[in-house]
Amino acid sequence: TAERMAPVAALVRDVPDFPEPGVLFRDITPVLADAEAFTVVATELAALVGVADIVAGVEARGFLIGSAVAVVAGVGVVPVRKAGKLPRVAASRRYALEYGEATLELPEGVVTSGNRVFVVDDVLATGGTAGAACALLRDVGAEVTGFGALVELRALGGRDRLVGDVAVHSLLTY
Ligand code: PRP
Ligand code: HPA
Repeated sequence: TAERMAPVAALVRDVPDFPEPGVLFRDITPVLADAEAFTVVATELAALVGVADIVAGVEARGFLIGSAVAVVAGVGVVPVRKAGKLPRVAASRRYALEYGEATLELPEGVVTSGNRVFVVDDVLATGGTAGAACALLRDVGAEVTGFGALVELRALGGRDRLVGDVAVHSLLTY
């Protein structure tokens, strides 16, 4: 995996002071734009889907990675969306971000009680987003089998915050 990830890591772009001063933003856009790197990301995360019967992708960059992972794993995908986008909402959770606050929502009628769900996002930072996504899925009776991110920002403590909550996987750590 380390060998497969080196060319992927080389494509992550560091952007200082975005979205606000003092934040070093890890921009994964070039990874997704590279066919080989994107394939590596999708296959590595798909290998973690295991027994899950659906992938949940978290808005917005988690949609891109999550859908690729779902196709490779041979399962469907459900979008976990920012508030106000879905016509019918099954569950809603407010959470704190590294920069700001937001609400995530799950569409009605897609994930039901007993479903096993693997959650995918691009970046794990404070873990607020991942925690809220997992909570939403459990609100409708689903079992969250794991969480997978392309990038994990260790210093922000997301993994520690999620410990005991969900199995956390990431392909690149900073
Ligand atoms: C980013 C990123 C993760 C989340 C990680 O999304 O894509 O979803 O923040 O941060 P956390 O672990 O501290 O919660 P953002 O809310 O910026 O939205 P976007 O994907 O729509 O740009
Ligand atoms: N990069 C991309 N997304 C993020 C980051 C970051 O550094 N922090 C929180 N979400």
